[in-house]
Amino acid sequence: MSPARLRRPLLDWYRRHRRDLPWRRTRDPYRIWVSEVMLQQTTVKTAVPYYEAFLEAFADLPALAAATEEQVLARWSGLGYYHRARNLHRGARHVLERHRGRFPRTLEAALAVPGVGLYTASAVLSIAHGVALPVVDGNVRRVLARLFALRGTPGRSDAPYYNKAEELLDRDAPGDWNQALMELGATVCLPRRPACPACPLRAHCEARILDIVDRLPEGRARRAPEAVTVAAALVEERGRVLLVRRGEGPLMGRMWEVPQTSLEARGLPDLVRELKQRHGLDLVPGRLVARGRHAITFRRIRLEAYASRLRRRPPGDPERFRWATPEEIAALPVSSITRKVLRGLDSPQLPLALEPRD
Ligand code: ADE
Repeated sequence: MSPARLRRPLLDWYRRHRRDLPWRRTRDPYRIWVSEVMLQQTTVKTAVPYYEAFLEAFADLPALAAATEEQVLARWSGLGYYHRARNLHRGARHVLERHRGRFPRTLEAALAVPGVGLYTASAVLSIAHGVALPVVDGNVRRVLARLFALRGTPGRSDAPYYNKAEELLDRDAPGDWNQALMELGATVCLPRRPACPACPLRAHCEARILDIVDRLPEGRARRAPEAVTVAAALVEERGRVLLVRRGEGPLMGRMWEVPQTSLEARGLPDLVRELKQRHGLDLVPGRLVARGRHAITFRRIRLEAYASRLRRRPPGDPERFRWATPEEIAALPVSSITRKVLRGLDSPQLPLALEPRD
């Protein structure tokens, strides 16, 4: 089938049906870069409010480059996968220093920006500058796997996907074309129960013709998520809550959190020992005041927050401990778990009371 026969129906469909998203109202490479980084591990629905708040805080690339890492993480707080925010920040500084604040226009220079890989570089260059580069993300892989009945696990070998994406690319409108493929995957060619009757490519879809849509793309065996319990200690003093700072590390490194057990621990039975070991805190847990759930890669976390008191005050080290009001916490880089605990989320039967009520 010639690519030309696919291009017109998909582009027409995209131009008629595309969602009106804030990053689609701009050609500013900085704004598109921010959106593409956010969308890598976050759904559109979740990303939109964060995107708007992020750009309100850092309206252009020099503003982002001038911010501190803590300010950037604070705006990312709740989105998870914080290395994305750190890389974006480092990348903005690189672009400011090496390219006078303008996102590069060539693939080679874009790939030299810290944190920018082939996906991000191709997405930003095609959408902002109309450079003819294909993008291949999870949605595009699924669309291509079905359209051409491609077998084999995406991610193992991406070559067939890149080859097809390159061959199909509309060189006159690469930004719209790439977004059209992604949009089709996000809204019609869904992983489960795809809306084939609404698909502009249905007449050309090999998986549909072979009646194997449900079997493609072929998946890797999924690892079953592990259930873990995290116990958190809510230590409150005159309307302020005790926060501790995590050490350096890939997982939420340097972010603030309510003192809590590690993912390897058993929750409450390990709370006192772990908080002593990790933070030197001498803690007496009290009653359960909030419960919630949180999912991260491969783990389903049950959260339990215990109103607790300290036998001794923590060391006066502002780099590691702080007492924060809810307003202060809103502006700090804090993990999603901590935000949930502080909102007493998912536990209307156990409303979190900062002041003891009995
Ligand atoms: N997913 C990631 N980037 C996207 C975009 N620009 N349009 C649609 N889906 C996307």
